[in-house]
Amino acid sequence: MDYESAVKLLSRHGQLQLLDYYGELDEEKRRILLKDIEKVNFSVLENINNNTARRKDGEYAPITARSLDDIAENREAYEIEGLKLLRENKVGAVLLAGGQGTRLGFDKPKGMFDIGETRFLSIFEQQMNNIKQVTDLSGVCFHLFIMTSEINNAETIDFFRMNGYFGYPEDKIHFYVQDAEPVCGFDGKIFLADKHRVALSPNGNGGWYSSLVNSGLKSVIESEGIEWLNIYSVDNVLQRICDPAFIGATSLSGLGCASKVVKKTRPEEKVGVLCEKDGVPCIVEYYETSKEFSEKRDKNGELVFRYGVTLNYLFKVKLLDKALFNKLPYHVAEKAVPHIENGETVRPAEPNGYKFETLVVDMVGYMGSCLAYEVEREKEFAPVKNKTGYDSVETARALLKLNGVKL
Ligand code: UTP
Repeated sequence: MDYESAVKLLSRHGQLQLLDYYGELDEEKRRILLKDIEKVNFSVLENINNNTARRKDGEYAPITARSLDDIAENREAYEIEGLKLLRENKVGAVLLAGGQGTRLGFDKPKGMFDIGETRFLSIFEQQMNNIKQVTDLSGVCFHLFIMTSEINNAETIDFFRMNGYFGYPEDKIHFYVQDAEPVCGFDGKIFLADKHRVALSPNGNGGWYSSLVNSGLKSVIESEGIEWLNIYSVDNVLQRICDPAFIGATSLSGLGCASKVVKKTRPEEKVGVLCEKDGVPCIVEYYETSKEFSEKRDKNGELVFRYGVTLNYLFKVKLLDKALFNKLPYHVAEKAVPHIENGETVRPAEPNGYKFETLVVDMVGYMGSCLAYEVEREKEFAPVKNKTGYDSVETARALLKLNGVKL
């Protein structure tokens, strides 16, 4: 794009401030800025005043789950089916590692965080150890796609390389960078991250599939005949990845989507709840629920909306293509965004603008149905979200030790 075209485009969108420092830039920086401007998705800004992600009212109902008891009874059949699919190379995994982990306040990729006590044990290594249990059992290493962001991609790849890919075959690991969206102030004006760079931010964990396709990796899925993808978050150190029983239960259910869930420990626990809304699966985020919804109990005294999602999903690739590509709603989040103001970098302590994110939880509704698969919290759910308190480094370490991991 040349300068004149950029002026025209930005005038149309009321964003001419992006060229404020153009006159000060050398040729190379001008080229970079014009390229950034050309790629901006201006339409996300429409979400500020007209947010389609805001949940509309509807009829909520609990979802029936494969409970721990059901699973114990059918485990053998589930595992046989899951191992068969793994051995046929029909399953791959996607690690969502593009987040910024602001709550943990760690300035490197979250997966590099040392969860050990007497030895260095990164979250990445711990999760790769969890994977090894499955690959040892099946005798097959599945394809592992790792989504990073522009911000942490190089460091993540270096870390894997320096650690010999944790013993995993290098040709089975595929890194890709998630797409980004512009970041703007409360007035809707897009920020500059530098005088020659438009401020961008990763487009949320819902961007995992469209970014994978945009990165060209869909060809691996197609050429390898991968039919299922197991999506998981970087912060759960007890995450069981490509769990054969989970895969088998989902495949045998005939559904195209499944989520590992745990029973909530308390009504106000900060997890998304898997339920149904107007007959369609739906994940209601903790900040969207009413007190009445979270506290409702059945005649046995159990929470009615009790299944919290653990960010471990299984999706049928065919359905992802059919229903989802690029159609997820954007959530508008208020964040403190560093940017250029009067020629200087400003780092606000308080939110000063908006980021636009799509969420993997919204995908579930698009899939039409979802199997809720209950797992034991103490064995499979140890998220590292905060430094201390709930879902923290402390609680995750305690759970790892409970599961026999030497820290
Ligand atoms: P969180 O919702 O916990 O976000 O991510 P976060 O950015 O890691 O942490 P906070 O909220 O700033 O403290 C859940 C999972 O989704 C991934 C994260 O890496 C984590 O595995 N994620 C999140 C992405 O891959 N990309 C994103 O844009 C956001």
